[in-house]
Amino acid sequence: MRIAVLNGPNLNLLGTREPAVYGTTTLAEIEARLMDVAAELGVTVVCAQFNHEGDLIDAVHALGGRPAAPGVAPELRLKADAALVNAGAWTHTSLALRDALVGVALPFVEVHLSNIYAREPERRHSMLASAAVGSVCGFGPSSYELALRGLVATRRATRA
Ligand code: DQA
Repeated sequence: MRIAVLNGPNLNLLGTREPAVYGTTTLAEIEARLMDVAAELGVTVVCAQFNHEGDLIDAVHALGGRPAAPGVAPELRLKADAALVNAGAWTHTSLALRDALVGVALPFVEVHLSNIYAREPERRHSMLASAAVGSVCGFGPSSYELALRGLVATRRATRA
């Protein structure tokens, strides 16, 4: 099973970005932990981070098996079975991202470090949630690991 871990804008700043909200763990550390968990679970994980919405949408299309647009990284050109998506602020704004995920039928879990439902009103709505297999938020870096474990278990149960 091949799982893409897709991070949206500003998540490359983890480690130094608003540590009171997001902690001090870097994205590289989160990804390294996911690689260990993936090895334990016997799945393949590919990770990418995007600061431009169209680049993320191009990657979703390619991961969903559509012809890759120029500029999509080689590791994102192979079809994925599912994804973890922390879309950052696009979570709250991007119908286009939801449409892309649904449009290529890429099953995904929505992930957030913070509990978006306990934050400012503008963060309490997710454009992605209604299309997600599930959502994990509020557990800091562990949200990703919990989401990966949940996604793999759910995918294995659906295929059995
Ligand atoms: C976030 C929550 C979003 O509201 C915010 O814009 C982010 C990070 C999280 O992981 O908690 O960039 O997705």
